[in-house]
Amino acid sequence: MLNKYKVAVVGGAGHIGLPLSCYISSKGNEVLIVDIDEKVLSKINNNEAPFFEDGLKSYIDKANKNNIQTSTDLKKIKDFNFIFVTLGTSSEQDEIEKFRGLVSEIIDLVSIESHLILRSTVSIDEINKISENKLLKQKNIKLSYCPERIAEGNSLNELQTLPQIISSKNKQDAEPFVQFFKSLDIKSYVTSFENAAFLKLFSNAYRYAEFTLVNEFFNIAEENNINFDEIMELAKIDYPRLSNMPSYGFVGGPCLIKDTKTFIGQYSNEKSVLASLQESNKEFMNLIIKKCLINFPDKKIIQLGMTFKPNSDDLRSSLAYDLYKRLNAEGFIVYPVDLNLKSEDIELELFNYEEVVDKTDNLLITTQHDFINELDLNNKKVITVGYK
Ligand SMILES: NC(=O)c1ccc[n+]([C@@H]2O[C@H](COP(=O)([O-])OP(=O)(O)OC[C@H]3O[C@@H](n4cnc5c(N)ncnc54)[C@H](O)[C@@H]3O)[C@@H](O)[C@H]2O)c1
Repeated sequence: MLNKYKVAVVGGAGHIGLPLSCYISSKGNEVLIVDIDEKVLSKINNNEAPFFEDGLKSYIDKANKNNIQTSTDLKKIKDFNFIFVTLGTSSEQDEIEKFRGLVSEIIDLVSIESHLILRSTVSIDEINKISENKLLKQKNIKLSYCPERIAEGNSLNELQTLPQIISSKNKQDAEPFVQFFKSLDIKSYVTSFENAAFLKLFSNAYRYAEFTLVNEFFNIAEENNINFDEIMELAKIDYPRLSNMPSYGFVGGPCLIKDTKTFIGQYSNEKSVLASLQESNKEFMNLIIKKCLINFPDKKIIQLGMTFKPNSDDLRSSLAYDLYKRLNAEGFIVYPVDLNLKSEDIELELFNYEEVVDKTDNLLITTQHDFINELDLNNKKVITVGYK
């Protein structure tokens, strides 16, 4: 094959790194996954998908047939000339330091004229610091920030359909990255580091704001004893301007909260509209707890769905899980049910619905997994947190 690249993905066993590694491998490139999580690496080697992602299992099968390599040893990247960094990041100082340290190790290790692609969500300050790294310049390593914009669960589809934003110091530096993504059949657009960093963060802050604003309306309706479900339905009938309005519900997950926080920290201030939106989500959670206290006086609940969004097995920054903890603190006995999770993988005792169905008639639906539609909820008192 003409354009065969040697690609290493550092953090490659994670939610972003793994689908990306498999997709790059499926295009005939030599791929190395470097990750510190040995347990997940051995699952990949055994053709198991370590987390839910549509189509991932068959991509892992294919990648293993294509001899995808996995290692915990970062030094192995020195034989590769396109290096992705897909580490988990946040706006917390220790996470930033960890990311920074790893990137300088990578710069130390890679050979001259390699290509470094930052894929993790990072701020413009971090990108600028890396771009000014002395060794990076001496070794003539080309740097690019190529933000990931997929929605978890649908990444293998979106990797192929969403255009790639490529940012670099200048157009000339961007060219090898443009060619690389072209070889993967991914359309790309080139911009500056500043624009790409702003674009990635503001897009998630926008989505956070959009979802939260609906929760604010829900809060107002609740306080005024108005049935928001009924109004939403009526408002949308033959009224296209509201047809894309999301439903109320928890705004959680690994990206929206943290990226909004980073965006505020970087560009805005604590008094901004965005910062105050966080209060609406706190109030939304308080109202759900209040509803439980009023409607479930015996303080027993079967909670359906624990992950941060429907049909996912990701518990990171899940507000359904936060609610579970808050309800426990309020003295409720809560029986969590989530077929997408296994008790042994998390610090939470889960139940099958059949095991607990006779314990109480009180049901709280916190994440709208498909499996919930199969359950018999007749004769139950149901509170639904939202429809996201
Ligand atoms: N999850 C999403 O939906 C999503 C969407 C867009 C962007 N992002 C961004 O992508 C980045 C990665 O997110 P994620 O959800 O894949 O995180 P993740 O936690 O699933 O994956 C990170 C991986 O890095 C590995 N790792 C940690 N330290 C390491 C080290 N020193 N060396 C090698 N590997 C190491 C971890 O073991 C893990 O497998 C974050 O910046 C996130 O904000 C995530």
